[in-house]
Amino acid sequence: MKENVASDHSSPLDLLCKKGNTSVVPLRWEGQRLYLLDQRLLPHEEVWLEYRSARDVARAIRDMVVRGAPAIGIVAAFGMVLASLELSNDNRESFIEKWLGEATFMVQARPTAVNLKWAVERLKRQIDRHPELGTDDLAALLEKEAISIWAEDIQANLDLGSYGQALLPEAGGVLTHCNAGGLATGGYGTALGVIRAAVSSGKKIEVIADETRPWLQGARLTAWELIRDGIAVTLIVDGAAGFLMQRKEIKAVIVGADRIAANGDVANKIGTYAVAELARANGIPFYVAAPVSTIDPETHTGNQIPIEERGPREVITFAGKEVAASGVGVRNPVFDITPHCLVSAIITESGVLKPPYGPAIHACLSL
Ligand code: MRU
Repeated sequence: MKENVASDHSSPLDLLCKKGNTSVVPLRWEGQRLYLLDQRLLPHEEVWLEYRSARDVARAIRDMVVRGAPAIGIVAAFGMVLASLELSNDNRESFIEKWLGEATFMVQARPTAVNLKWAVERLKRQIDRHPELGTDDLAALLEKEAISIWAEDIQANLDLGSYGQALLPEAGGVLTHCNAGGLATGGYGTALGVIRAAVSSGKKIEVIADETRPWLQGARLTAWELIRDGIAVTLIVDGAAGFLMQRKEIKAVIVGADRIAANGDVANKIGTYAVAELARANGIPFYVAAPVSTIDPETHTGNQIPIEERGPREVITFAGKEVAASGVGVRNPVFDITPHCLVSAIITESGVLKPPYGPAIHACLSL
């Protein structure tokens, strides 16, 4: 897998600014402290929380202060930098033992998005490659690597946006599910990055946002981001997507991904599979936009992807109030698998992958 060692961006955000971009970002790294925009409170309150320990960052990921596969990978990397700063007075042996313990805790925060494990392993490889470094130098090295991971993610989004925008229609409704925007990445977004690039190139796109029960990423986050950027967006309940497809009001679907298996099966927010089936039934293209870091070559098919199940409260409550019949049993799987045969193209920063995905993914990972 492609990996650039510590690039020299003074700040990853410069990449966005240079392009004149106003996309929201979910994190800040300042004075060796991590700050996260609390996504549980959006769109009504914009509150930044400060983090000083790896444990607290892992809990923030588990509790959805920050969410979205690339964003949790980047944030986990900074969490592991905080671990190294906490341990910088230890000797190297004790540093590594305790750091690996924190890494295990971090990786367990959310199981489906492979970016979390990918980012933590990338930092661990830096430690393995530098047996000569003392703990202070290791902390500095990991900080540079985390900044690189963040910068590379923004660059990947800008690149996949420019590849993917050509696939979207000149005008009309484009459906998205969940939030795969600036909030879910280092900035700019994957699915919303493609939409941003298409709109910048002059296409007259109206985003149709599924509300995305139960956490309402579409209603709360996608709608907020797009309104903030002046991009036309209309909110629908999840069950309305098929009806609008039948009425030809949706010309294409584009979503992000939490993990893509080696055969092209895609794990994404619960409800994505249903949208993909509806798109196929209505002859509408279904696109997945994701950085190469979301492809997991060790997972051969979607069946092997662990699917997170969260507690019942998200389902039985609405805006903090219980709405379901008391005593009802609840299932709350928060991701599903879209089989590769329903995916029209996978848009990455290395180019647009088309079926058959096995060889296309293999070639992409060998670049
Ligand atoms: O539970 P979430 O909000 O973390 O789920 C997020 C998604 O499913 C996104 O579509 C995916 O992570 C891609 S984000 C670029």
